Amino acid sequence: MSDIYRASTTAPVNIAVIKYWGKRDPKLNLPTNSSLSVTLSQADLRTHTTASCSASYPKEDTLLLNGTPQDVSGARTQACFRELRALRTQLEGSDSSVPKLATLPLKIVSENNFPTAAGLASSAAGFAALVRAIANLYKLPSSPTDLSRIARQGSGSACRSLFGGYVGWEQGSASDGSDSVAFQVAPASHWPTMRAVILVVSAAKKGVSSTTGMQTTVATSSLFASRASETVPRRMAEMQKAIQEKDFEAFGKVTMMDSNSFHATCLDTYPPIFYLNDVSRAAIKVVESINAAAGRIVAAYTFDAGPNAVVYYLEENEKDVAGLFKSILEEKDGWKGARGEKIEAQGAAFEKV
Ligand code: ADP
Ligand code: DP6
Ligand code: CO
Repeated sequence: MSDIYRASTTAPVNIAVIKYWGKRDPKLNLPTNSSLSVTLSQADLRTHTTASCSASYPKEDTLLLNGTPQDVSGARTQACFRELRALRTQLEGSDSSVPKLATLPLKIVSENNFPTAAGLASSAAGFAALVRAIANLYKLPSSPTDLSRIARQGSGSACRSLFGGYVGWEQGSASDGSDSVAFQVAPASHWPTMRAVILVVSAAKKGVSSTTGMQTTVATSSLFASRASETVPRRMAEMQKAIQEKDFEAFGKVTMMDSNSFHATCLDTYPPIFYLNDVSRAAIKVVESINAAAGRIVAAYTFDAGPNAVVYYLEENEKDVAGLFKSILEEKDGWKGARGEKIEAQGAAFEKV
């Protein structure tokens, strides 16, 4: 009977306030612009992944996601396996006391406790957890930056889920992707009153995956070039300043404008991509009315590649923001009935680093 080696980890979701959308190198997952996100608390949305290996396993590597076998032959998953195995091989070297794990078949078992492929960053939490679970299994001395370089090849947004708090992803310029990594802009403790409410408009799998969507946008949208080369670089600087200064009005305004800019490029794609629906737009109007009533920006919406809203706010405005969303959901069953779609509110605190 052969030994079974095993390691588990969890990874959080991150929701971008400056969106990654566009690849300059689809093979290495190198982006056309830098991006910035907030890592959410693992108490709410997270992936749990166990990686194991054994000579007793069937020869092929396997990945079970929420109980369903996944195809691991794709170039992205293969790139993660290959890089991690290469690091383990280095570690094994000629030291005969280090068990030879790099050549053993891998069995990955993963669970997302939130909708997969619905625009709530499952690929981010999923690949961050996959890479870290294998790194733990192999006892690699890799830093979060090193792991972010590997996770990026699984899914771009995954590189940011290896850090907590406010996280940037530097697009980099090296053709081998060595400088296209995530970095922490500030720990969650820097601005601990930040909160997010997530409105699950639809848990259904999106019609156009992020990978396909962004490649079609790059190929066909005429708005895209100026977003990548002018708008985003300016906003990256504004956003980092807003976070450093804990300026919620600036943070909120840039967040909402960048979400709108990203969805504008989706609409400008041919054929057009519609990630937002009527309920998403109703959520935008609720946020606009909250801000109008407050006379300043106290709530900021953002949407990834899907209809589900994430609304950022500060704890001191909990009642006006999350409270209002929750009461609308309780009172207005009409939102459900009229549109046949369900909205669920979930509180999400930020990861304590
Ligand atoms: P999302 O908006 O949820 O990130 P994407 O289209 O970017 O949607 O990616 C969804 C894909 O990510 C899934 O179809 C699956 O291939 C992969 N994925 C999601 N969760 C995991 C996980 N826990 N482990 C491995 N891969 C995952
Ligand atoms: C809209 O990271 O899911 O959520 O690299 O092709 O896997 P791939 O794409 P993915 O794209 C995320 C797009 C986004 C914005 C963001 O998270 O920055
Ligand atoms: Co994704």
